[in-house]
Amino acid sequence: MRTQIVHPGADNLRYEIRQIVEVARATEATGAAIRWENIGDPVAKGERVPDWIKQMVIQAAGEDLSFAYSPTKGLEEARNYIANERNLEGGIQITADDILFFNGLGDAISTIYGALHPKARVIGPNPAYPTHSSAEAAHAGAPHITYRLDPENGWKPDLADLEAKVIGNPDIAAIIIINPDNPTGFVYPEETLAAIVDIAARHGLFVISDEIYSNLAYADSGMRKLASVIGKVPAIAMRGISKEFPWPGARCGWIEIYNRDQDQSFDRFAKSLLEAKMLEVCATTLPQKVLPRVMGDPRYYPYLETRVSAYDQRARRSVEVLGSLPELIIHPARGAFYMTAVFRAGALTPSQSLPMAPKVEAIIAPHLGEALDARFVYHLLGNTGICVVPLSTGFNSDLEGFRFTLLEPDDAKFEAILQDLRTALVAYLASGAQREPAKAQLAVAG
Ligand SMILES: Cc1ncc(COP(=O)(O)O)c(C=O)c1O
Repeated sequence: MRTQIVHPGADNLRYEIRQIVEVARATEATGAAIRWENIGDPVAKGERVPDWIKQMVIQAAGEDLSFAYSPTKGLEEARNYIANERNLEGGIQITADDILFFNGLGDAISTIYGALHPKARVIGPNPAYPTHSSAEAAHAGAPHITYRLDPENGWKPDLADLEAKVIGNPDIAAIIIINPDNPTGFVYPEETLAAIVDIAARHGLFVISDEIYSNLAYADSGMRKLASVIGKVPAIAMRGISKEFPWPGARCGWIEIYNRDQDQSFDRFAKSLLEAKMLEVCATTLPQKVLPRVMGDPRYYPYLETRVSAYDQRARRSVEVLGSLPELIIHPARGAFYMTAVFRAGALTPSQSLPMAPKVEAIIAPHLGEALDARFVYHLLGNTGICVVPLSTGFNSDLEGFRFTLLEPDDAKFEAILQDLRTALVAYLASGAQREPAKAQLAVAG
């Protein structure tokens, strides 16, 4: 090419959650059984979508207007439903005009970071959900700036670290929170949310709260949506149906914009999101048609409660099985369907390994890079067929660990995964020569 065509941020786009799939597929082709614990898709994991939801989709598919474009912001009936539901919960009040539909939150996330001024940065949690961190880093052409979620403190955010980075980086314009969090399953206590809003208020920032799992918070988690504490601070909340219905293939998510009237520049930014969406015409129509019917049905919330209590039980069981390993830090998820186990500093060495069939080893060996947690993850895959995601390379983290899901609906299979995971961890940690001395954690960019 006569001129540079690769975007300077191109190397920042990485999605290990799906990249490990290629290796797992090649392993599967040797005849090994793979247990997919890497992707947060309840349907792919075998959860049944209730028949009454399917019937509503079938009914909507019978209506000609489901095949039409929808208005750029989204169908009026869907936006009215969401605004109304939001207002009934208390906290900030919105109208249908404060809502904008996207083709899934993946689309919303790339539109939001793409629309930001090239110099404006958004600080997010570490570990980080890679769609946010990669899109933000690609937008800035620089590593994502993060604040620490502290595994030694039940994954609570380190607010001193957050505020110090906000003060030290005048380009930071916004703070991201993911609540409930992916990959940790952490649910932000109300006072922590309020403290983050306070930091945003004092430093002239806006807040982005990814609440795609907000209706999957566990019974006693204390889950509060950002809307309940946001006061007069400009903010964007993100929601969708991928995990809730669950219908990830619908590609349907939306943003709720709070307090546009409080800041001219935020108002202009919000308008630019709508303008960006106009260029794409609109988001998918059929799921928006179905949304108010499904969410407004009296069976919806009881159905979610059943799912959530199953995740809660699996989270507690995971801690029972894995929590006694002294090399691991692990906390039960309080929402969503992921858990993260962190290796204590020094627990992993480059000489640890697990046995594998020669054919499998030939596939795995080229992927054993430098990251020690990824090394464990690939050995686990080769030895047991369990496919999880390394924390460092998968979630932009300086911590070593891995994320697994709580999605396996078959109790016996879930128990077997946990037991095999434990056996593999014990064998891996005991293998290799000498342990390395405890090492200091690397500093994350920014
Ligand atoms: C925190 C978080 N936000 C957004 C998404 C993307 O969701 P969607 O299917 O709406 O693109 C995911 C998907 O796993 C997620 O975990």
